[in-house]
Amino acid sequence: MTLSPESKEVIAATLPAVGAAIGDITPLFYKKMFAEHPELERDLFNRGNQKQGEQQKALAGSIAAFATLQLDPDPARVEAILSRVAHKHASLGIKPDEYWIVHKHLFEAIVEVLGAAVTPEVAKAWDELYWLMANTLIALEADLYKAAGVEVGEVWRTVRVAERVYQSADTVSFVLTSLDGAPLPTFRPGQYLSVGVKLPDGARQIRQYSLSNAPSQGDWRITVKRLAASTSPDGTVIPAGEVSNFLFENLFEGDELQVTTPFGDLVLTDEDTPLFLASAGIGCTPMIGMLSHLAEVGDQRPISVLHADRSAANHAHRNELSTLVEKIPSADVYRWYEDLGARQPLETIRVGRADITDLPLDPKTHAYLCGPLPFMLSLREALIERNVPAENIHYEVFGPDSWAPAGA
Ligand code: HEM
Repeated sequence: MTLSPESKEVIAATLPAVGAAIGDITPLFYKKMFAEHPELERDLFNRGNQKQGEQQKALAGSIAAFATLQLDPDPARVEAILSRVAHKHASLGIKPDEYWIVHKHLFEAIVEVLGAAVTPEVAKAWDELYWLMANTLIALEADLYKAAGVEVGEVWRTVRVAERVYQSADTVSFVLTSLDGAPLPTFRPGQYLSVGVKLPDGARQIRQYSLSNAPSQGDWRITVKRLAASTSPDGTVIPAGEVSNFLFENLFEGDELQVTTPFGDLVLTDEDTPLFLASAGIGCTPMIGMLSHLAEVGDQRPISVLHADRSAANHAHRNELSTLVEKIPSADVYRWYEDLGARQPLETIRVGRADITDLPLDPKTHAYLCGPLPFMLSLREALIERNVPAENIHYEVFGPDSWAPAGA
């Protein structure tokens, strides 16, 4: 599916104007959509992201990137952008009908911001672009639902907390099992599920958590980090971790929880190349899941594992990481702590920020990154400097991804 030649011409002529105004269009779009559908803001969208404007940036960025890629085609980039969004949508149970709601309010916002510049010809071209993107997403999402063995959008189930374990002072893991004891559906190491909780004010908020166990175990394990509120330069308190903190404080063994079938496109390659798994902070969770799997299947690829954290005490799954790496003869682990406390650095436990300059690294390596954006960006740069091709560098952003559309 591609744009018609007439629409392509109009998009090319109007993309600079729409691109420049998109920062005004998307907040207005959400405002209009939530005014007519308050239930979407309360029960589907992440209201924390809305407050911080992150979701607006991700949506605007993906539309602008998709439009640009229609004019200057790069199928691999289109696939990368849409695949992440489709997995996220599937994990939320988004259904085709909902694309009409987004369409209505997005186009009202476009007309309101751009005014008379939106001639019928311009409206028609952008309409075509919207549906090209929407229909591609709908088709990808249909495939994901089918592969997961569920009806379109029917991804939610109730599970029970079988185990709750502190993995560091501010993280806990929850092992989730089915209510009837039957094994839960399998997943691919690196995938995540959505958790939906009813908060004290009545809102049902949803967040995604990576699975931190191996798929063969028949249950699912997630690890949740308690987050502290931060203060902006003008003194406003920005609440953080609304759902994570709720789970941390209220979810215990025997409790039931609403979760979805696992989705997510950050999964281990089958290629027989060396692997580099790098995480910082709570970004360790997909890596622990991947390593559990690699240890279980006796994988023989050379594996370098890197983890960066504030201190050993802050490092979630610290001992499990060492145990897993010991089980894989071809794996080595390097840890960086900003604060080593009273301990002396070792070859494999270093002080400061992660630095891969002197680590052994084969240019054929497939690298998997998960952690804060600055951590991933600096590692990506360093990997490229060490001749690892950009297409071998895979990453997971916790939260809306405003990195991929930007073309990193
Ligand atoms: C997430 C784009 C349609 C609901 C996202 C993200 C993007 C995006 C880029 C962020 C993904 C990430 O990096 O995490 C689009 C585009 C659409 C579309 C381009 C139309 C062509 C819809 C529809 C719905 C929806 C129809 C349902 C009403 C959501 C929700 C999230 C999301 C709930 C999770 C983010 C959050 O809650 O903050 N979408 N989307 N989207 N989308 Fe869509």
